[in-house]
Amino acid sequence: MAPRTPDPSRREFVKAAVAIGGSAALSACLDREGDAATPTGTDPSARPSRQHAWNDALSTDEHGNHVPPRHHLLLYLDYAGDGTPTADDRERTEAAFRSLERAFARSNDGLLFTVGYAPAYFERFDAALPDSVDLPAPEALSTFEDPALDEPDAILHLASDRGSALLAAEEGLLGERSEINGVEMEADLSGVFAEASLAGDGPARRTGFIGEGLPAENADVEGIPDPDAVPDDAPLFMGFESGFEKNQASEDRVTLESGPFAGGTTQHVSKIRLRLDDWYGEQDHDDRVAEMFCPVHAEEGRVEGTGENLGNDNGVGECVDDIEAHAREYGRVGHAQKNARVREDGSPIILRRDFDSTDDGEAGLHFLALQEGISDFVATRSAMNGTDLADNPAVRQRVNNGILEYIFVRRRGNFLLPPRGHRALPRPDP
Ligand code: HEM
Repeated sequence: MAPRTPDPSRREFVKAAVAIGGSAALSACLDREGDAATPTGTDPSARPSRQHAWNDALSTDEHGNHVPPRHHLLLYLDYAGDGTPTADDRERTEAAFRSLERAFARSNDGLLFTVGYAPAYFERFDAALPDSVDLPAPEALSTFEDPALDEPDAILHLASDRGSALLAAEEGLLGERSEINGVEMEADLSGVFAEASLAGDGPARRTGFIGEGLPAENADVEGIPDPDAVPDDAPLFMGFESGFEKNQASEDRVTLESGPFAGGTTQHVSKIRLRLDDWYGEQDHDDRVAEMFCPVHAEEGRVEGTGENLGNDNGVGECVDDIEAHAREYGRVGHAQKNARVREDGSPIILRRDFDSTDDGEAGLHFLALQEGISDFVATRSAMNGTDLADNPAVRQRVNNGILEYIFVRRRGNFLLPPRGHRALPRPDP
């Protein structure tokens, strides 16, 4: 395993290399990270059929929370051919993915990846997606946002603790490197896929990071008033732990149960811009706890520092029934508290795999979530909008209403992550 908290200069460097990309960045990254060999993969046929089955491969912390890989890359792609994909293109795509699986272990220290397809991709076929797949085109999900809609054909999400693994995988897929981590690429995606052209010139390559130290080391960007404001041990710019085990949907809950894509899931990816001037400038720790978790958490001092003391449960389950009373009594409601209204059998219905970003020199977050159907995401986001709570005089649509004052949705996209057996240019009726 790579050390969990490498020295700060290395952390900043690797993040920058991933953001830049290309072979020079890869060599530089390998120089910095090259102290221990990156583990290679095993027989691809032994991999689980769910592309999103990451949890059993991820490391866990002392409380049993899954720890996401520290570096992330999103590649938005369009199918390069005309009409419907050919059998040859499908074989090359699958061979390229299998090469990645042979090159890197399925772990934080190796490489985790998924490929998803947008509704726009399926439009080229005469057949339609089955009713079992809930995958509408993306749209604005609140009255106070006007996002650009990402409608490429496909999206790749690559994640690793090692920036060098991400960059090598990217180069291998693009056909710029025939060997990655000592393993021959049997095929690549060049000629099959091309960089997507996206609405409003949206970037087709997006990068990010999550994990202790990385936000503080990379906080010298627009949207953060003072780089020192971000706690050194925070995994995300807003300063708190996220993704507690008890506050995530299970992989089973987000998996499609029936139909030809059984074993798959849906993915929503939004790009959110952060404006943390007031978050850090006007608010103290208790204010931030009240708005992120729940006002009672602040009153009772339940969240120390980044919230590691919470263990594996954010504890907001018990704040849900009192949310309207909290709006009246404290004049504010918490982000997690609002979202917890959508729990089913005590758990959320979306599995969050989001990460921070400094793309374009701005503090941001790629909010990537998995759920059985996009309507599960929409229901959760609607609870987070808290429009129903804004009839209280102190709570307005974006003020004292969780974290809505500080976050701005810029782009949204919806995707189907087919089961692994159909991940290469699937038909809607495979
Ligand atoms: C900048 C953006 C965001 C940040 C920094 C953030 C951070 C957090 C934090 C710190 C928690 C409490 C700890 C935890 O349960 O993991 C939380 C809970 C949660 N958030 Fe967010 N969040 C963001 C956006 C969103 C969005 C866009 C959604 C989806 C609509 C969402 C859905 C949830 C859910 C479902 C929970 C758990 C609720 C429960 O306990 O039942 N978050 N978030």
